Amino acid sequence: MKSPVRKMFDGIASRYDFLNHFLSCYQDVLWRRYCCKSLKKMMAADVAGAGETAEGGVNAVVAKIVPRNVRLLDLCGGTGDFANTFRKIFEGGCACKCSSGNASSQNGTARGFAVDPAVIGDFSYGMLAEVKPKKINAHAVQLDAMKMPFAERQFDVILNGFGMRNVPDARGALLESYRVLDAGGYLCVLEFFSPRNLFNKFFYKVLAPLFIPVMGAFFSGKRDAYEYLVNSIIRFLPVDEFCKMAEECGFEVKKVKMFDGGISFGVFLHKPVSAA
Ligand SMILES: C[S@@+](CC[C@H](N)C(=O)[O-])C[C@H]1O[C@@H](n2cnc3c(N)ncnc32)[C@H](O)[C@@H]1O
Repeated sequence: MKSPVRKMFDGIASRYDFLNHFLSCYQDVLWRRYCCKSLKKMMAADVAGAGETAEGGVNAVVAKIVPRNVRLLDLCGGTGDFANTFRKIFEGGCACKCSSGNASSQNGTARGFAVDPAVIGDFSYGMLAEVKPKKINAHAVQLDAMKMPFAERQFDVILNGFGMRNVPDARGALLESYRVLDAGGYLCVLEFFSPRNLFNKFFYKVLAPLFIPVMGAFFSGKRDAYEYLVNSIIRFLPVDEFCKMAEECGFEVKKVKMFDGGISFGVFLHKPVSAA
């Protein structure tokens, strides 16, 4: 049987991108970009760390887990915006702030990374149908984030943009992401977490319920979906509890970035190299 959440996303798919950008005043675009740039810096630093060992040889373990061709899974990827941003940023030039163009500079690499055709995984056919017109170099795969049709260690990077709080069992999705991620790989979760501070409580409990469902209803005709959006944020975990859960699942928390006073967060999780 089709889950109500899946049905809901099928119903709003054609207006999803527009409303996402409109309701967040285009901040969602900047948040995705920031996450991809940060991931690129982290992976560039890993590549730099995979250089010469004390004996003069290449650190083979690290070199193996930081491939030049990045295998990307955009989980709960919907219409594919996160995967699209990732490709543009990873295939572009220098990831660091330096202007030296030195390929082995401390912070990054002057060259971009090559990215294999991405996998955009989502359980809504409606959302995945929106990927094709964007002509992203990717395969759209219908799947459940808690039980993925992949063998272990198939990916170097998993993105999860605003998907975690929609999954009935976030711990299950974390464990499953850990399973399909290669050792040394990254999971980046961009999400609206349950509000903790006064500003966010006011925003999500007072302001958002007033304008988000009204705007959602006006532009998509689906008021319920946008009521669900606000409620799902309030019901979800606060970011610190989510990080604790990720650590219990085996991840190292590399970085937590707060956006716009806590409206959203980017959580960067790393599967330890020793998990090989
Ligand atoms: C808010 S949208 C996010 C889409 C996209 N990642 C983005 O950055 O805009 C959440 C997506 O999660 C998907 N989703 C929810 N539960 C899922 C599950 N159990 N397995 C796979 N996808 C799921 C929905 O179909 C929807 O496309």
